[in-house]
Amino acid sequence: MRKKIIAGNWKMNKNFEEGLALVSEAANMIHDEYQGSAQVVFIPPFIHLNAVSKLISAESNLFSGAQNCSNHASGAYTGEISTGMIKSCGASFVIIGHSERRQYFNETNDWLARKVDAVLSENLTPIYCCGETLEERESNVHFDVLKKQISEGLFHLSAEAMKQVVIAYEPVWAIGTGKTASTAQAQEVHAFIRSLIEEKYNKEVADSITIQYGGSVKPENAAELFSAPDIDGALVGGAALQSRSFADIVKAMK
Ligand code: PGA
Repeated sequence: MRKKIIAGNWKMNKNFEEGLALVSEAANMIHDEYQGSAQVVFIPPFIHLNAVSKLISAESNLFSGAQNCSNHASGAYTGEISTGMIKSCGASFVIIGHSERRQYFNETNDWLARKVDAVLSENLTPIYCCGETLEERESNVHFDVLKKQISEGLFHLSAEAMKQVVIAYEPVWAIGTGKTASTAQAQEVHAFIRSLIEEKYNKEVADSITIQYGGSVKPENAAELFSAPDIDGALVGGAALQSRSFADIVKAMK
């Protein structure tokens, strides 16, 4: 059985107090109202991470994560944050290659492959993001784009290392736009990603990897998305900024 994982990526939102209030409220709702077994991950800005981690516990299936990391372990890299620092703050997950990092900070697949290594070297879980733009989908090259992102960012890993990775499929045209991929569109891509992994490694590795969907996931569409056989959770942006909507998305995962 694959792990089901719902992660809330706050991006550059919430000051410190607002962030702690959000986690406390959402954690209480999930504790009181959720009977399922999905792991829930809060992904605040770096400077909230230690305090957020102290509010939650892995025994309740609640975890924290970072939105990015350096690919270096330490040294003269002003403004950067290493995976060792992230781990020492109590986090378990790190988002790698979100489309906003790829687009605004010019992060390439080769660069991201080194970040994946940095995450795994600390025994943290990378959430490796991939996804096509609207233009790429309309010109029908989305499968090629995804294959390149997945193979260049991840396929240098051994089978054992690959099993530690979580993948998030986030079509760029669905992020923050209110336009969700249909369940059929998302399922098609998730099955394609799993087939790439099976081709490169084997069926056991492919079947063990959690593939999240991201892009305008809301309480209204979560249950239908989660009903698809290859959709193992969600990477949520906007709807993770309110405790009620985030907890309701978690509750949609049986
Ligand atoms: P959204 O963002 O849910 O606001 O579309 C998703 C993401 O960027 O991870």
